[in-house]
Amino acid sequence: MSKDLMYKDELQQLVAEAYQALTSPGGPATGFYTDEQLGALPEGAVEWALGVGNPLAWAELRPGEVVVDLGCGAGADTLLAAAEVGPTGRAVGVDFLAEQVERARRFAADSGASNIEVYESEMESLPLPDSSMDVVISNGSINLSARKSRVLAEACRVLRPGGRLCVADLTICEEDLPSQILTHPSAWAG
Ligand SMILES: C[S@@+](CC[C@H](N)C(=O)[O-])C[C@H]1O[C@@H](n2cnc3c(N)ncnc32)[C@H](O)[C@@H]1O
Repeated sequence: MSKDLMYKDELQQLVAEAYQALTSPGGPATGFYTDEQLGALPEGAVEWALGVGNPLAWAELRPGEVVVDLGCGAGADTLLAAAEVGPTGRAVGVDFLAEQVERARRFAADSGASNIEVYESEMESLPLPDSSMDVVISNGSINLSARKSRVLAEACRVLRPGGRLCVADLTICEEDLPSQILTHPSAWAG
């Protein structure tokens, strides 16, 4: 590994600054959702969907299930999950940026749902008890962590036995990347 690699704190700061700088992203991820899903989201939430896929397309959520969305951003998937699990279930969003948490809480309030909680927290250290979730979802966020194995360990910790992990994210590169890419801000948080 190159000695030019960035350390965890430096990477996390870089990712945080990239997402703090976003002001009007314009809904780059809307193509992943059905018209019905897009229509169910409150105004503004669609524009702030920044994922790389639609984890709910495979999550097969059932009424009454408890779901956590890692790196929930402004909460599009959290809101859609809350609708799928219904009033007897619960959807929890977790994001480390106060700005995103504020947006997710606002859109959750706008949606009228009462089964959504959003926490400001790193996904490497979830504020959730062991075995408390039926499903973990994530969309375009785990790739941004400098400690991906830690995120997956936390996902396993909070999942109940037999729980499901459903992630949409960037594919793993099997070849070593040059340090110019590994240290380039837009390669980490572009
Ligand atoms: C590409 S956006 C995707 C947001 C959301 N999942 C969506 O589909 O719109 C990535 C999100 O991950 C959050 N994030 C990045 N690293 C994180 C970390 N270590 N812990 C918690 N959230 C993180 C960012 O603040 C940002 O909101």
